[in-house]
Amino acid sequence: MKPYYSDPYITIFHADALDVLANAEELALMLGGGFDCVSTDPPYSSGGAFRGDRVQKTSAKYVNSSTQAHRPEFSGDQRDQRSFEFWCVMWLRLAWHACNPDAYLSTFIDWRQLPTMTDAVQAGGWIWQGVHPWVKPSARPRPDGFSQSSEFMVWGSRNPMGERDNKTARYPTGYVEESSPRDREHIAEKPEKVARWQLSLVKPLGLVLDPFMGSGTTLRAAKDLGLRAVGIDCDEHSCEIAARRMAQGVLL
Ligand SMILES: C[S@@+](CC[C@H](N)C(=O)[O-])C[C@H]1O[C@@H](n2cnc3c(N)ncnc32)[C@H](O)[C@@H]1O
Repeated sequence: MKPYYSDPYITIFHADALDVLANAEELALMLGGGFDCVSTDPPYSSGGAFRGDRVQKTSAKYVNSSTQAHRPEFSGDQRDQRSFEFWCVMWLRLAWHACNPDAYLSTFIDWRQLPTMTDAVQAGGWIWQGVHPWVKPSARPRPDGFSQSSEFMVWGSRNPMGERDNKTARYPTGYVEESSPRDREHIAEKPEKVARWQLSLVKPLGLVLDPFMGSGTTLRAAKDLGLRAVGIDCDEHSCEIAARRMAQGVLL
């Protein structure tokens, strides 16, 4: 498969993640070894209490109505509950196969889909290691209710963490605090600070996989940390944004 973009650190594919992951073992070998980390943010297929809510446009589900800006809709966010779980198990398993024995996984999810994702991570063969909150200090207060000020990262490892050869001797915190980027170009764009934190345990020059890269925040963080990364997205507008962000060279 021909990359949409590539430089010495970053390779981007405009494709369905399952199609690339079906050959990801060969891809990883071509890039000099398996992946050391899967750090990603799949479409949550969330955003409401009822099936009718879930099939709404991503802009209706995930953008605060008072801050509506014109950002393109993104794909893959309307699965029902059972197919969301099956689909997560498929990509999690394919990614597992493409990883080194020392690899770890960190995947974003919201509170509604958290139990499903922790099941899917384990069904995909990963050892579930925990859940990390991403705390958004600028979240709106909610009258007579607790503010929805967090999303979550489920993390896991391919093998028990204590048996990893690639110990990094780093001690990252168990949560990360940062507001959503104000000037984001993608509806679900995550802060670079959070993406860098997710990569805290990757060995120097390690190889990172983001099968649902969106605007390429994980790739940007990887490049800034001197890591290599492969990103995939099925929407061309996401690939365009990500490729533009990669062309900026190393920022840190
Ligand atoms: C939640 S967004 C990721 C946002 C990203 N973290 C960022 O900071 O911009 C999920 C992305 O997955 C992409 N996507 C959905 N289904 C996909 C599939 N089957 N294969 C590849 N990409 C897919 C969507 O187009 C969307 O850009």
